[in-house]
Amino acid sequence: MSDDKKQPIALEERAREAARMFSPSAARNRDVIREAFLKTMPRSGVILEVGSGTGEHCVHLAAAAPAVRFLPGDPDVASRASIAGWAAHHGLSNVAAPHGVDVSARGWHEAFHPVDGIVSINMIHIAPFAAAEGLFEGAGRLLKGGGRLFLYGPFSRDGAHIAASNAAFDESLKSRNPSWGVRDLEREITPLAEKAGLSLTAVIDMPANNFSVIFEKA
Ligand SMILES: C[S@@+](CC[C@H](N)C(=O)[O-])C[C@H]1O[C@@H](n2cnc3c(N)ncnc32)[C@H](O)[C@@H]1O
Repeated sequence: MSDDKKQPIALEERAREAARMFSPSAARNRDVIREAFLKTMPRSGVILEVGSGTGEHCVHLAAAAPAVRFLPGDPDVASRASIAGWAAHHGLSNVAAPHGVDVSARGWHEAFHPVDGIVSINMIHIAPFAAAEGLFEGAGRLLKGGGRLFLYGPFSRDGAHIAASNAAFDESLKSRNPSWGVRDLEREITPLAEKAGLSLTAVIDMPANNFSVIFEKA
């Protein structure tokens, strides 16, 4: 996904103000994601975010969890500028300069010290499955014992879409890129978690047929 000249990284048109990009979907869902995050994730320590996009989720979470140090990042250069722009705009001292990690790259986790949490919002279905595989493999190595991985997005459940709109969304993702697609929580994602030493601790129903899914390292 670092070859962003060939492949769009988001499914929406985004306005800009200097480096800061505005995501219409982040504006719609950031409050409910923050609520789920605050209920389930560590409220202190270090949390790594991968695939941060514009950075709007990160700053929304960072403002609500001031004892957490956030490490946002994205392989996309313009997204990294936007993340830094949003952190500066809000004067947030608990948001680090963005990293450029691509979780499908072998050994990506070696760039970091152990962390208390990892967040990835709307990433694994808009990336090849190797990104989900790499995310879990790295999470298994990077998370401290008791550390948590928070995912947000659409998932199918045990082989079936939960809504006709999700089936249509899956088709539209695959028509853009055959390696993208709505992932199956029980059949595709939980096995990756188990292999990495993580267990599923919470599945939260979210608006518009999405889920927040939380895993914990033993
Ligand atoms: C649809 S955007 C979501 C951005 C943001 N999390 C949000 O919800 O607004 C997906 C993001 O994941 C990033 N991404 C795609 N593949 C990735 C990978 N292998 N490793 C890390 N980030 C990746 C893209 O560059 C893009 O910014």
